[in-house]
Amino acid sequence: MPSDRAFYITTPIYYPSDLPHIGHGYTTVATDTLARWHRQAGDDTWMLTGTDEHGQKMLRAAAANGVGPEEWVDRLVNESWQPLLEVLDIANDDYIRTTQPRHIERVQKFVSDIHERGFIYQGEYEALYCVGCEEFKPESEIVIGTGEFEGVPVCAIHSKPLELLKEQNYFFKLGEFQKKLLKLYNDNPEFVQPESARNEVISFVKRGLKDLSISRSRFDWGIRVPWDETHIIYVWVDALLNYVTAIDYGDDSPEFDRRWPATHIVGKDILRFHAVIWPAMLMAAGVEVPRQVFAHGWLLVGGEKMSKSKLTGIAPSTIVDVFGSDAFRYYFLSAIDFGQDGSFSWEDLNARYHAELANGFGNLASRTIAMIEKYFDGAVPTPSDYSEADLAIQLLVSKVAKDADAAIEKLAISDAITSIWQIVDELNGYITDQEPWVLAKSESDRARLRTVLYTVAEGLRALSVLLSPVIPKSTAKLWNAIGGEGSVKHQPIRSAGDWGQLKAGSKVSSLPPLFPRIEQDETTN
Ligand code: ME8
Ligand code: MG
Repeated sequence: MPSDRAFYITTPIYYPSDLPHIGHGYTTVATDTLARWHRQAGDDTWMLTGTDEHGQKMLRAAAANGVGPEEWVDRLVNESWQPLLEVLDIANDDYIRTTQPRHIERVQKFVSDIHERGFIYQGEYEALYCVGCEEFKPESEIVIGTGEFEGVPVCAIHSKPLELLKEQNYFFKLGEFQKKLLKLYNDNPEFVQPESARNEVISFVKRGLKDLSISRSRFDWGIRVPWDETHIIYVWVDALLNYVTAIDYGDDSPEFDRRWPATHIVGKDILRFHAVIWPAMLMAAGVEVPRQVFAHGWLLVGGEKMSKSKLTGIAPSTIVDVFGSDAFRYYFLSAIDFGQDGSFSWEDLNARYHAELANGFGNLASRTIAMIEKYFDGAVPTPSDYSEADLAIQLLVSKVAKDADAAIEKLAISDAITSIWQIVDELNGYITDQEPWVLAKSESDRARLRTVLYTVAEGLRALSVLLSPVIPKSTAKLWNAIGGEGSVKHQPIRSAGDWGQLKAGSKVSSLPPLFPRIEQDETTN
């Protein structure tokens, strides 16, 4: 059923100071899967991703590579960050770069707006700054270094020394928003999710909020403060605004009213910026707060958070080149509870690929199609009377479709996949129990054989529709192979569980393995 619900979803805009790794890939495929689900449900969907190109971190990365910042970000964005979207099969609707004129103009408009509304003043500041985080660090996030940085204060996230900065800056009156923010979290418990993130944010805000330094004058790689040419806007203020500048903030355009408010998907490292500073900025401007901020967990490699600064980064293409983009998407979205940390290992990826995708799902699809070709000349048979076992499958499909949609509504992607996967497991069990190859031996079992193979083919129809947001490439192939009409990504997902949509008589076509087996030595490089 078509819906007129708007669904605007965003990824963080990543720093192209270096190459993307699977942590960035993870956030992006999760966001894309949610967007695809809503699009397929007929919601008025918009997915935004992009790159955060200003700031000191970028300036230093460029300098370290002997080029200017423009050249550095253009190179990284064109050669690595935008191609990543293709590698991971992302269907984003827009890509914002904070160096684009549309962004720069609207950031200046927003900052002027809150300035005029009295939320900005000039002051002096001295504190320890982490360039990795692009943030002044509170005491609770400063630890004493070890190894190379033995004995000096370092950032708890980056393990690198902090820098003492003293500046005459413009400040945003963040401190004034404590009560309003607590009221927001209280009145709207869904605003920050999951629950652990919500609790963390509430206790942080309860401890009190300091005003935020929002300008810099020691370097100039950023957007000018409109009323003071000697300052640029703090990179986080610049970056957060991407979510509204991309949809025409301040331009009196219908686009803004159509899309806003957004669902923001972020990693828990940047939760506070999104759940505290960002809604306060919007309140100051008199703009509605986001619909939701969801913080997922960290991908760990060898027990540590994967990161570019610690050189534990794995390029997404090293996985995609061997297993394919569908396997990348499926693996990270099903193996990790969305919102929790999860460990990546090649062994686990390889084991799940073979057990769940190749043997579980791929094999179910190929043998069903092979049997329809062999016993019914490639035409989906007309079912006869349904037995209890058949009705149990129908009931399951209908329940799973509802459960999966409810899970996606809560952004519980792994729960949705677990739910859908029951159809894979039950259909495999059903084939074993019904033994179509035995039924095929006698003419008197012909009607029963028709019903059994229709049941499995129709189950595959539901599976391809429900899994299309997660594994778009293989479900498109499967949809074609079972003789589905149109393209699978246009099949309404909220009615995927209604039985009997696959037309008897549809022509199947043979299907090469959806997930071919992979030789061991290809996975250990
Ligand atoms: O923070 N596990 O950009 P960034 C899971 N430009 N996700 C990970 C991850 C890991 N090990 N490492 C990175 C910035 N990510 C700012 C954002 S938004 C207005 C500005 C993902 O390049 C995760 O989504 O450091 C995390 O929040 C994001 O990359 C940080 O990307
Ligand atoms: Mg980071």
